[in-house]
Amino acid sequence: MRLLRISVTDRCNLRCIYCMPDEGVDWMAPRGDLLSPADFEAVVAAAVRIGIRHVKLTGGEPTIRPDIVEIARRVAGLGIGDLSLTTNGLLLDRLAQPLRLAGVDRLTVSCDSLQADRFEQITHGGDLAQFWRGVEAAQQAGFTRMKLNVVVMRGVNDDEVADFALLTREHPWTIRFIEYMPLGRSVLTGDDPDAAIVNNEEIMARIVDRVGPLTPIERHREAGVGPASVFTFEGARGRVGFISAMSRPFCETCNRLRLTAVGELRSCLFDGGEVNLMPALRPEPDLDHIIRLFGQCVEMRPDVHSNRGNRAMSQIGG
Ligand code: GTP
Ligand code: 5AD
Ligand code: SF4
Repeated sequence: MRLLRISVTDRCNLRCIYCMPDEGVDWMAPRGDLLSPADFEAVVAAAVRIGIRHVKLTGGEPTIRPDIVEIARRVAGLGIGDLSLTTNGLLLDRLAQPLRLAGVDRLTVSCDSLQADRFEQITHGGDLAQFWRGVEAAQQAGFTRMKLNVVVMRGVNDDEVADFALLTREHPWTIRFIEYMPLGRSVLTGDDPDAAIVNNEEIMARIVDRVGPLTPIERHREAGVGPASVFTFEGARGRVGFISAMSRPFCETCNRLRLTAVGELRSCLFDGGEVNLMPALRPEPDLDHIIRLFGQCVEMRPDVHSNRGNRAMSQIGG
């Protein structure tokens, strides 16, 4: 195992159409029952003992937790090599600098349209200008080589993939195109949940059409240990990446554990067993016990994912 992904909350200040139903999902717990900064610290301390050096903080939207900076500070103090946070960016204008000072190494932001009206529709109310203010603040704070995630959906934003790729001419970012995964219940998972999937081969062809041939980047030159295949092209300062969870499942090389905000360790993003860490966390954390539960969770992992999942992405954190 190389990476622990921690969802610090299942709640969000947006309702992206691929992620949540309009009314939101049934929240996992009243705020008081979410894991505390001390709980996260214990889980990460156990993870460090088994050699994990990459930690990802995610949500829902991690920045809506009032104690997100404290969580980051505690986790960063444990000697991991790479602490990153994935966010929708809307609160970064005031949080980017405190997160940097707390020890966050890298940020990944999500953005599914470069057109303000479309962005608002996809996110149900998000303000694209506010997103860009967050990105600007993040750069000012020293997060220069950001990653930007785009979930590509047929008939929704698939006409914008080349526009996204072209952003890397000016910016040293990695823009990653993620195949839409029909997980949980969302506005897009109607009668035919698969209808919105656009496979990466098609996305790549559209990009090559506009920017010319893509040259692969060696995996170790890209920060993190994620499943993206990354490329660059002539005239680009940044890179484009492709995450093909649907067309080419990468389960064989899966290197991550996932912790939900209420303390369940999930063996897979899709269907798969869960292990409850709570008994090893409270009243007093027991690191040996947590490590045993990590082992149990890995045993439950399916060989290849099932294409569907019972949980919304916002509850697992991607
Ligand atoms: P960094 O690359 O470290 O910045 O991480 P990131 O949060 O951007 O996430 P990562 O590269 O790990 O993954 C980006 C997205 O890819 C996730 O949010 C998921 O949507 C998808 N993804 C990541 N890991 C898996 C996986 O194991 N299985 C599947 N099916 N999808 C994954
Ligand atoms: N399919 C693919 N990606 C998704 N994300 C959220 N829901 C889905 C989905 N159903 C992405 C977000 C964010 C990352 C954590 O996961 O856009 O970038
Ligand atoms: Fe919120 Fe992220 Fe889900 Fe959008 S994808 S609703 S920003 S958790």
